[in-house]
Amino acid sequence: MSSTRHIQNIALIGFMGTGKSSVGRLVADQLHFTFLDTDDVITARAGKPITDIFAQEGEAVFRERERRLVEELTHRTRTVISTGGGLPIDPANMASLKSHALVICLWASPEVIWQHVRGQGHRPLLAESDPLEKVRSLLAAREPFYRQADVLVNTEMRSIREVAQQVIHQFRLAQPAHR
Ligand code: S3P
Repeated sequence: MSSTRHIQNIALIGFMGTGKSSVGRLVADQLHFTFLDTDDVITARAGKPITDIFAQEGEAVFRERERRLVEELTHRTRTVISTGGGLPIDPANMASLKSHALVICLWASPEVIWQHVRGQGHRPLLAESDPLEKVRSLLAAREPFYRQADVLVNTEMRSIREVAQQVIHQFRLAQPAHR
């Protein structure tokens, strides 16, 4: 990791259903950091759920809202940022997050992800006739981007609490005293 980086925040990236928001909330609570979920900020600002943004304005508009929000985050300190699953696919978003945050990717297999997201109706990208296949193909396409995270944490066979502990451990290791 470059010594010029000034890591003030934690950014959690990863596919839908890997627990970014639950883990992020717990980490923020334990570190006494602010918690920010990019999907929540975007829906609050738009005044409508993500499914409506996708249906009425299109995915491109949603991605633009993500990009603008990421730019606003560069001045944040002591914040745990949970990101939407598609946000790190834009290299500019990833570069921006890395400029101030330790970027940690939460990982799970398509089958485990499917167990988590099935029955939840708020993810427009999975509104398909064969959603498990969609999870598989989308995860495969995104894997090279997720792998650019500073740290990859496998969430399988780990509780939310254990994943949160791992995230906190990695963040402490990335602080100047440990480098
Ligand atoms: C998306 C993931 C969702 C949300 C939107 C698009 C994606 O966030 O941003 O539905 O492209 O993977 P979560 O990862 O929090 O479900």
